[in-house]
Amino acid sequence: MAEAVFQRCIHPHCGASVAVEETSFACPKCGGLLDVAYDWNRLQPPKSLAYFESKWAERLQPLSFSGVWRFRELLPFAPPEKIMTIGEGQTILQRADVVAKFAGMNAGCLHLQYEGMNPSGSFKDNGMTAAFTHASMVGATRAACASTGNTSASLAVFCSATGLMRAVIFIGSGKIAYGKLAQSLDHGALTVQIAGDFDDAMLRVQQISKKLGIYLVNSVNPFRLEGQKTIMYRILEAMRWEVPDWIVVPGGNLGNVSSFGKAFIELMELGLIKRPPRLAVINAAGSNTFYQLYERFGLRWNNGQPDARIIDGYYQSLDAEKIRAATIASAIEINHPVNLHKALRALDRCGGAVREVTDQEILDAKAKVGAGGLGCEPASAASVAGAKKLRKEGVIAPSDRVVCILTGHQLKDPTATVAYHSADRKTFDEVLGHRGVRRATYANRAVQVPNDLDEIIKAIEVYT
Ligand code: F0G
Repeated sequence: MAEAVFQRCIHPHCGASVAVEETSFACPKCGGLLDVAYDWNRLQPPKSLAYFESKWAERLQPLSFSGVWRFRELLPFAPPEKIMTIGEGQTILQRADVVAKFAGMNAGCLHLQYEGMNPSGSFKDNGMTAAFTHASMVGATRAACASTGNTSASLAVFCSATGLMRAVIFIGSGKIAYGKLAQSLDHGALTVQIAGDFDDAMLRVQQISKKLGIYLVNSVNPFRLEGQKTIMYRILEAMRWEVPDWIVVPGGNLGNVSSFGKAFIELMELGLIKRPPRLAVINAAGSNTFYQLYERFGLRWNNGQPDARIIDGYYQSLDAEKIRAATIASAIEINHPVNLHKALRALDRCGGAVREVTDQEILDAKAKVGAGGLGCEPASAASVAGAKKLRKEGVIAPSDRVVCILTGHQLKDPTATVAYHSADRKTFDEVLGHRGVRRATYANRAVQVPNDLDEIIKAIEVYT
């Protein structure tokens, strides 16, 4: 294809191309996933990553203010006048010594990339600004997603902030944290609760968006993943363009790890970095498809031809045993990750590992993240629990430079947090008991005191 920007099947043996404007987001030849592909010879990628530092002086311009679009030379699919930004990506990389100690790392070696600072409170805004930009390029008037809550919150925010499109959101009934549901309702999205879970909703939204011609913003949309690449650029920038040893990320639909892999593959191709970091993907034990397939059944990218028998056999066994995803980390309560193939490619090219962590491990890690100064939702803390596990196994060394991605804000899911810290066993058990969570080792319990000045003073003196 003669265009400088196009979409291309990720499988090298197929390699079919489609135009940048196409919105079906599946390879027309083999049905595989698509990448946004660039002919870099016809574009102007920077010669060094330090080039992006010049953008800091241009912060009054919205495209240079955005933590996504100030890297636009590395995702050059949209004309600048079509870019839809709401100031996403103003996020921080924070050194976290309390968490390092918890994970068994040396001080100064563990950092947290806090994506909860985005306008809708999760990393999704990085991808949504890119998908939304593509949607506006093709003149979409309605956009849809299935969601465990954050994609939907992000879509709802983009639709309401720009007034450009109507948001249609599919969620599993009873499967979404209240903070996220509140966002979807408050921002005026059409919120459809279907009787089923995320995996059911994901299938439905793909059928419906095709049938009704509604623009799909789930991470099968390769433009979403272009925006999420910039999380990695910001980490490199905060590390003075040095590549860390490990990026650790929770795995749900596997969009993040896929986009991180693409970011590093491209930076290598462009000669902007010499080596990629290794990527660790952390599943919740109650929704551990990627862990099972990669670590237990040895599924690999295999040059674009992963063994379909392993994948089909695994899904058949889930169906036969009626196993549904189940974890307190509702954001990653997913058994059929749509980006499985891209995630395999990312691990093949960068190296890495996949682990599972229990809900108990997730909540303990979350409490430590909180005690260290940043608030995250349960799914995000899977990254920290996973880093701790990999350290214990000796896969990560205490002196490795590790970045854990905190994907979503603490206030997204206060129910789990309050239950964990509750002194009332009934409250604890109601929310966490059926998840196999038995202890709250790092609980910070509220102190009950009578409404009496002396008693209150006494309590303060005892506890501080
Ligand atoms: N962390 C949070 C807070 C999430 O919301 C998600 C995904 C993930 C991690 C997993 O990321 O899918 O790229 O592997 N949430 C989606 C949603 C599925 O609908 O909001 P992934």
